[in-house]
Amino acid sequence: MSAARVSTAVLISGRGSNMQALVEAAADPHFPASIDLVIANRPDAAGLAYAQAHGIRTALVEHRNFASREAFDAALQAQLSSHHVEFICLAGFMRVLTADFVAAWAGRIINIHPSLLPDFKGLDTHARALAAKVGEHGCSVHHVTAGLDEGEVIMQARVAVLADDTPATLAARVLREEHRIYPLALAKAVRALASGAPSASG
Ligand code: GAR
Repeated sequence: MSAARVSTAVLISGRGSNMQALVEAAADPHFPASIDLVIANRPDAAGLAYAQAHGIRTALVEHRNFASREAFDAALQAQLSSHHVEFICLAGFMRVLTADFVAAWAGRIINIHPSLLPDFKGLDTHARALAAKVGEHGCSVHHVTAGLDEGEVIMQARVAVLADDTPATLAARVLREEHRIYPLALAKAVRALASGAPSASG
């Protein structure tokens, strides 16, 4: 790994607690990625204030201002290009990206999802895990591909489902694991990229 850190953007839609975990990890100069840009698609995304307070450049690309997904993704790309971003972390970013955008970033775009993929793709994962009476639940960091929550898994963390769990208590326990593994998975993915590995699984 060269001394140069991989310039990374985090895309958020709301709270941004996973973005915060990435920023905290990247405060260590030995972390292989630097968080240089935070982009939100909603003006009320609370994570924007955190990023600004920590001296990170932010951009707002409001999806509702664009007539098509292609136009929205082009605006995202313009921000990423103008800030010389090399890697993207989706962190609670609740927009589906076009296949063309994802293909252009193949191998350089990852997401965190609150389930043990391939189980419970999509929304409301905690309620669905409880309804399915699974004994274990968790979170996954995966490469982003055109299929929703379908890319190769880089890292997962498991939590036991407790008899008295509600979606909120389960979500809180999973979220702690999200914050722990997302920085580890980002480091693993960018190191794999730097070493020329075909995927982050090696
Ligand atoms: C996180 O739990 C993340 O895994 C989930 O949204 C939450 C965002 O929280 N993402 C998805 O459901 C994506 N399909 P945060 O804004 O505090 O990081």
